[in-house]
Amino acid sequence: MGKERWSSRWGVILAVTGSAVGLGNFLRFPGLAAEYGGGVFMIPYFISLLLLGLPLAWAEWAMGRYGGVRGFNSTPGILRVICGGPGRETRGRLAAYAGVLGLLVPVVIYMYYVFIEAWCLGYAWHYLAGSLSLGPDRAAYQKFFVDFIGASHDGALVHQPFNATMIFVVVCVLANFLLIYRGLSAGIEWFCVRAMPLLVICALLVLARVLTLGAPDPAHPDLNVINGLGSMWNLPPTWDGLWKALANPTMWLAAAGQIFFSLSVGFGVIITYSSYLRRNDDIALSSTTAVAGNEFCEVSLGGMITVPAAFVFFGAAGVAGGTFGLGFQTLPLVFDLMPLGRIVGFLFFFLLFLAAITSSLSMLQPAIAFLEEGLGLNRKSSVALLGFMTLIGNGVVIYFSAGTAAIDGMDFWVGTFCIYLLATLQVLIFGWILGTQRGVEELNRGAAMTIPRWFPFVVRYVSPLFLLTILGFWLAKNFSADLAKSWEPTGGKVAMIFVAICLALFLLLITQALRRWENLERKSS
Ligand code: ALA
Repeated sequence: MGKERWSSRWGVILAVTGSAVGLGNFLRFPGLAAEYGGGVFMIPYFISLLLLGLPLAWAEWAMGRYGGVRGFNSTPGILRVICGGPGRETRGRLAAYAGVLGLLVPVVIYMYYVFIEAWCLGYAWHYLAGSLSLGPDRAAYQKFFVDFIGASHDGALVHQPFNATMIFVVVCVLANFLLIYRGLSAGIEWFCVRAMPLLVICALLVLARVLTLGAPDPAHPDLNVINGLGSMWNLPPTWDGLWKALANPTMWLAAAGQIFFSLSVGFGVIITYSSYLRRNDDIALSSTTAVAGNEFCEVSLGGMITVPAAFVFFGAAGVAGGTFGLGFQTLPLVFDLMPLGRIVGFLFFFLLFLAAITSSLSMLQPAIAFLEEGLGLNRKSSVALLGFMTLIGNGVVIYFSAGTAAIDGMDFWVGTFCIYLLATLQVLIFGWILGTQRGVEELNRGAAMTIPRWFPFVVRYVSPLFLLTILGFWLAKNFSADLAKSWEPTGGKVAMIFVAICLALFLLLITQALRRWENLERKSS
């Protein structure tokens, strides 16, 4: 148990940053900012980063290393170590069951995330091949997208066995599992150390092109880069408008959800990654560096590319269209209209692919760790078992592709709601069971920076209160409407039933793991 290790400090920082920087940074974040009016969204966004994202990242890194030093790498194992112990066996068992979220969240998100990753690879390929230059009509790009992802009706992709999309899916799934099979250091770390710098270079090149666009249409000098950046950053012109926008609770929920999704906090990923650190390795500066790296990629790169590029060609109306509409329909048209667009289009979708694969990889490791330590499987068997399970999930997402209903259902109930639950659980366990004193001692051991003095207070009181308030508010106001919305389309229904089956399966496996751990402990005492 717990024999795998990161080979260097930069390796773990780049692996965690690789997990964090993903589609969330370059598609979800600009999409949300555009939806909630640009600059005003940044207010709840940065408050959530300071009060939730950063404290939770510190807490996860600390709990992960704490559990890893005691021989566990999976969320159920680590939470059991923190909450259990002699005389507290029942609490330990309950914590292990609650840790099911640290398996369910990454595995289910992987199931649809890898499909979107394949779209990015496919688009990059089409740019290389020159087949995504479809002229100045947005409808052509919309049709291309709908056909490419099979959004017209359920089974659209499956009924044409040799379609290109499926080839990209197969390539992405094989790449993920090959790297996972090679292991933590030889697979994940090896890949992230190479992919992350390449991703940043691609993003800087795309950014340079966007920022030098000027005002491409002489008839509309107001459609320029500066106003494009303004559409992302400007606040409403009046105080009244600002207060009204800030009074929207859904925006606060979306901003907090984006922080979690983007930082991979509350995913069960960071807790597993940091469990492979040694007892005296730094976690304080490493975690802060990973958060800063993610924010640089999200705000400075993701935030300055997508929205301003769409704005200079189509104005405020062009920025709307939702995350997928903006990324896969509007931007390809924008690339078609700009000089050097084909190469910029390739670089953009290739960087999306790199960002996605370093994230999807990280979503597999928590379950691999659990299958190894909980069921005693070797790497080959755990990779094979997880591969089989996720293939069924990929099948559900790919078959029920009409209107992306299955993706949307999984993304809302697992990618937003369950992340929220896991984050809340983790912050409560860190603040109230591990205790802020022990937690801060853990963070400070080997620390290359000082953790600020406000951290214990924030993590014990402010973060849980903030989380529980938003959760309570959403349960009271929107829960039933959101449930009905997901349950309506066939894809949404199937996705929710499938998630429930995965949950039951993971709970069964945890029962088995608990038996194994208790037996091992009995024998060794
Ligand atoms: N953190 C990853 C992202 O932003 C999942 O896409």
